[in-house]
Amino acid sequence: MESNYSLPIGWHVGKYELTGVLSHQNFFTTYRAYDPRLKLEVAIKELAPLECTTRTADGRTIVLKEAAYAQWFDGMKERFLETGRVLCRFHHSSILSYRDVVEENGTACLVSRFVEGTTLEEWLCKNGAPGEGKLCIILHNLLTALHYGHQSGSLHNAITPQNILMEHPTGMPVLTGFANKTIFRPHKITLLTPNSEWYPTPYDPSEQSSNSEMPGPWSDLYALGGVLYRAVTGRNPTTAIERACEDIPLSLPVLSSHKGYSPAFIAMIEKAMQSRAEDRWQSAAEWLRALDRHTSTLAATPSRLRRAVSAMLGLGRSPNNATATSSR
Ligand SMILES: Nc1ncnc2c1ncn2[C@@H]1O[C@H](COP(=O)(O)OP(=O)(O)OP(=O)(O)O)[C@@H](O)[C@H]1O
Ligand SMILES: [Mg+2]
Repeated sequence: MESNYSLPIGWHVGKYELTGVLSHQNFFTTYRAYDPRLKLEVAIKELAPLECTTRTADGRTIVLKEAAYAQWFDGMKERFLETGRVLCRFHHSSILSYRDVVEENGTACLVSRFVEGTTLEEWLCKNGAPGEGKLCIILHNLLTALHYGHQSGSLHNAITPQNILMEHPTGMPVLTGFANKTIFRPHKITLLTPNSEWYPTPYDPSEQSSNSEMPGPWSDLYALGGVLYRAVTGRNPTTAIERACEDIPLSLPVLSSHKGYSPAFIAMIEKAMQSRAEDRWQSAAEWLRALDRHTSTLAATPSRLRRAVSAMLGLGRSPNNATATSSR
């Protein structure tokens, strides 16, 4: 992926040599890069809001299209760096942790380890709906990650299948962009850029677009429920706003009925996606307890499901091949 707006491949950001462009979105450009001192690959996320900025003629320094954006951009840069500093202190196998922040070229960059793999969205497009055993393992890892993040005082605020990387070869999920959305929306709904409004994704609960309700752990758990909905049905959920306005049901049991998921598993997703925050899982720990009870019942299921869980946990394999699972 190349773009005139990206820094040229081969250039350096701090001590890191850019080797490719991984992603180019409205606000960030993410590069693949190389740390020559440690001799390892990294990813570099550069704050580069397309709508409001451009680069100097040499293609290096980010400059504002209008002087009026200065205060907005400075605030965004400071919050981005602060997010990076917080994430440099995060240590959880299912959260993309950062290892460095760089202030250069008129902007800020966060440096993380490079994750070999694909996004969950790409993975689902390629592999279709995963079995319940595999999904339980993925869910367990993501819930322990959210528990860790929430306990540390951060909300993710933007969980989507695009923001979950499926690492190769473990097949385990890694959550990217923890707390990034607070850069745009430090408190509920604010303007994304000086000119544009925020539009909810299918994974955003209603409180993300309301001034009267507070986001909390239950908001991230709603989004995680949406990710599971996408995984089991093959389609995005209807947005929370549409569901509320037009009284559209989730229809999860109908949409997933022929795929062999247990009613108890589907009920866990439905609980996460309730419109009213108080009807949902209130914390990742609460959902984890229910998930643990659910998976323990799988042991009594002499079927593909149990074999899938055993395989995912690496049971019966040598330690070198065993799949890592994160701890709570
Ligand atoms: N550490 C990494 N290793 C490998 N690929 C990465 C890494 N970080 C990001 N990517 C790739 O870049 C894409 C964009 O990354 P990310 O989701 O962090 O940025 P964004 O979508 O621009 O911002 P945000 O989701 O925070 O609004 C990811 O979907 C993934 O494909
Ligand atoms: Mg993203």
